[in-house]
Amino acid sequence: MYTELKAAAPESLAYAAKLLREGETVGIPTETVYGLAADATNNNAVAKIFAAKGRPQDNPLIVHIADMTGLEGVVKEVPEDCKKLAAAFWPGPLTIIMQRGDKIADSVCAGLPTVAVRMPSHLVAAELIRLSGLPLAAPSANLSGLPSPTNARHTFRDLQGRIPLVIDGGECSVGVESTVITIAGEQPMLLRPGYITKEQLETVLGKEVLLSDAILNKLQEGAVAASPGMKYKHYSPKANVVLLDGSAEAYQAFIAQHAGAGVFAMCYEEEVSSLAVPCVVCGAREDAAGQAQRLFSALRECDEKGAKIVYAHCPSTTGVSMAVYNRLIRAAAFQVIKL
Ligand code: TXA
Ligand code: MG
Repeated sequence: MYTELKAAAPESLAYAAKLLREGETVGIPTETVYGLAADATNNNAVAKIFAAKGRPQDNPLIVHIADMTGLEGVVKEVPEDCKKLAAAFWPGPLTIIMQRGDKIADSVCAGLPTVAVRMPSHLVAAELIRLSGLPLAAPSANLSGLPSPTNARHTFRDLQGRIPLVIDGGECSVGVESTVITIAGEQPMLLRPGYITKEQLETVLGKEVLLSDAILNKLQEGAVAASPGMKYKHYSPKANVVLLDGSAEAYQAFIAQHAGAGVFAMCYEEEVSSLAVPCVVCGAREDAAGQAQRLFSALRECDEKGAKIVYAHCPSTTGVSMAVYNRLIRAAAFQVIKL
């Protein structure tokens, strides 16, 4: 299949909406990462998403809506907690899991009684939902296992030949996938950390939000994942990523000792001049949101530059850093060296 790459403009969006209505897939920008969108009410269209990405069938997709009326038929009912969260964070990088409605194709929910819903703030994504008149199922637009794409070039590179169209809407401003919270159980639980933090969710809901075990830890063999996506190998560049846990001085010393062919540092802006190996920059030291915005792009850059081993800082697990840690620890296949 020939894949077109078009800048976001009225004609290209009208064309994208037409493809979506005809049951095709389209790579689209959102504020978090690029998504691979299709009609969430059409099983055949959704099957094309799984095929293009090579995604396991038991990993459910997020449904994207443009306004609160878009929840009709997508969810069974709109709980009070959803209204509170929507008022505070929608449109924006938050996904809410609720009981599913009857309009959604079975394959979107992978057999679960629940559905994940998000209202993106990116104007192109919102416009495409409106123009197509459809709820859009859209996972991140990477090949399964690779880092999520944060621009149209990454999306095109992964899915070229597999989908008809990618819409270029610029670099993603958030850079990591949406925060996922489930309100389908007795107590709200965070399933995936993102730009919207556990503390912010707790403030708006006025109650504790539990933390799924799989966020900070490796899921044990055979364990049932609250969020199926957590059990798969994720975000892995070809290079071997290793996290170093220690002070800035210890990081610098370790890298000086381990310099060699193919050895790279994924470091903060301030450090580039002090490190003895080629560097890929991932934000400034005190700027967790900036690190999140750069993370996936930095992981891809490591491969583009031919890195064999990449030493990265081990992020903290608080606030927005929890999202960076959650992605990076998986990119590193849980390899952490304590300095
Ligand atoms: O920012 C984002 O959320 C991006 C953009 C494109 O919107 N999308 C995205 O989709 O990250 P995806 O498919 O890569 O991640 C969806 C995550 C997976 O971990 C999946 O297992 C989980 O949400 N999920 C979806 N439906 C679920 C459900 N009913 N119950 C539990 N987890 C669910
Ligand atoms: Mg994904």
